[in-house]
Amino acid sequence: MSSPLERQTGTWWKVPVGRAEKTWLWLSVGTALVLFFWMGWWTVAGAQNPMGETYRVTPSAYRQEVASYERAARSTPEGLVPAGQDVYIGAHQWAWEGLPVVLQAGRRYRFHLSSYDVQHGFSVRPAGHLAEEITLQVLPGYEWVVDMEFPKPGRYEVQCNEFCGLGHRMMHGEFVVEAGGAR
Ligand code: CUA
Repeated sequence: MSSPLERQTGTWWKVPVGRAEKTWLWLSVGTALVLFFWMGWWTVAGAQNPMGETYRVTPSAYRQEVASYERAARSTPEGLVPAGQDVYIGAHQWAWEGLPVVLQAGRRYRFHLSSYDVQHGFSVRPAGHLAEEITLQVLPGYEWVVDMEFPKPGRYEVQCNEFCGLGHRMMHGEFVVEAGGAR
């Protein structure tokens, strides 16, 4: 191959692609396709993306669900202790309704999530562990029910991770996970 600094002459743009270059091109196309289909397959098979169930709900109806859940729950200084395995969280500008809540480690809960106004992000992490965060979209009009279990007791921080207006950065909450059988 001639130097790129030299002036090219003739039909240089029609020179056939070399064997090695072709191989690399196909290898990269192949890798891209494998990763593309992997993405779809792993979403289902990877058991890491909470799918849950979704229901249509009006903000006012959801608000009532949260209120009746709160009435049934037991109130303690650390927060609400849910009556069953269902936990209701209501998001609105700019606070979390239903928090703080007191949960038991190693027990499976059904988290119900919805918003009364705009889109929010329900972001949960063990206090001080930025890397162990999970974020779930919270939408008005939809009730999303996701199974969650917290193996480690401790304090968990909740943050809104979807820009939802002026007070977005103040939209915090927290809950406590107690060692199983503590109560
Ligand atoms: Cu709610 Cu940001």
